[in-house]
Amino acid sequence: MNNKRGRSVMRISMSLPKKLLNEFDEVLKDRGYNSRSKGIRDALKDYIVRYQWMKDIEGDRIGIVAVIYNHQYTGVLEDLTDIQHEFRDYINATMHIHMTGKNCLEVIVVKGEAQEIRNLTEKIMRLKGVEHVKLTTAAGGEQ
Ligand code: NI
Repeated sequence: MNNKRGRSVMRISMSLPKKLLNEFDEVLKDRGYNSRSKGIRDALKDYIVRYQWMKDIEGDRIGIVAVIYNHQYTGVLEDLTDIQHEFRDYINATMHIHMTGKNCLEVIVVKGEAQEIRNLTEKIMRLKGVEHVKLTTAAGGEQ
């Protein structure tokens, strides 16, 4: 199937939690989008860019992993602690902020080989109960 501009497009259907879709629509409204499809396309592009950027970091890095999670979600605290113990050689410090009644912000200071930092970040991203993860790094080796 082609769209008006002659580009090849595919139609997909998907199931989403109602709350997530409502929040997404709210963001689209705030940002002045009048097409949900356009919003989803832009969100997918952002996701791809973020992943590719994470894939591109290399060498010795220093940075932070910011994690927002729901501490009431069963097992998430234990999983997050297990992962941090597993990657303890790459973690300098962790700061925990009790954001709201249910949400916590954990800021993990990381230092070391990019691949290990990426593995740590991706493991946290896959955890159920984790709502947001953002990795920021800079070159951290001896220059
Ligand atoms: Ni907390």
